[in-house]
Amino acid sequence: MEYLFVPYQPQRLSPQTMAAKAHSLYQLMDGRRSVRQFSDDPVPRELIDLAVATASTAPSGAHRQPWKFVVVGAAETKAAIRSAAEAEEKENYEGGRLPPDWLEALAPLGTDWRKPFLETAPWLVVVFEERYGVDADGAKRHNYYVKESVGIACGLFIAALHNMGLATLTHTPSPMRFLSKLLGRPDNERPFVLFPVGYPAADCVVPDLERKPLSEVLIEN
Ligand SMILES: Cc1cc2nc3c(=O)[nH]c(=O)nc-3n(C[C@H](O)[C@H](O)[C@H](O)COP(=O)(O)O)c2cc1C
Repeated sequence: MEYLFVPYQPQRLSPQTMAAKAHSLYQLMDGRRSVRQFSDDPVPRELIDLAVATASTAPSGAHRQPWKFVVVGAAETKAAIRSAAEAEEKENYEGGRLPPDWLEALAPLGTDWRKPFLETAPWLVVVFEERYGVDADGAKRHNYYVKESVGIACGLFIAALHNMGLATLTHTPSPMRFLSKLLGRPDNERPFVLFPVGYPAADCVVPDLERKPLSEVLIEN
């Protein structure tokens, strides 16, 4: 078997252009926040498609691209997802399923079991990790570094949305098995993250959080 290689020579930029681009992307991304209050203003579907296309450029273990992005816009499906998510989250927040230290860590975010944004946001994008592939003949195909790959794709998805002025929340209404059933996904897929997507509500507020300084996250060695 012969494998093809193609030339890859992205343009080399001047140091000034590189610095300007680096600053501008950092500033853009530093302005990103997770949003929990959405407007119901519509968002064109092609923007969601483009964000998924961007996410799907992510590197992945052995190039398996083990992700599926399920786009939900129908009001009934969003209502069903909200109802099932709130049932799980009620157990987490009020049924004793989350240990006290976890509840304490969540307190500054002001979250509780109520998730109205699952109906307000015009789109819900549910990301599934493909635990293994299935060939045309039904044979199982191993996927590699699935969580790492899907996590990177989700990061690109979030960045793509933010870059076009849309907001999202990385939402994990745990356990998320209900999403497989509600969205009719096959056994080889497992829910990974649920992203409501839209514009922030006019009265949206976000927790006053600080990010760690570079000195805490960048280690010289
Ligand atoms: C893997 C992961 C799971 C998360 N799950 C939830 C969630 O279920 N509900 C929620 O309100 N926020 C969730 N978040 C959002 C975080 O609370 C948020 O990213 C963090 O507080 C920092 O805020 P920022 O995104 O505005 O910078 C999650 C974030 C990540 C990365």
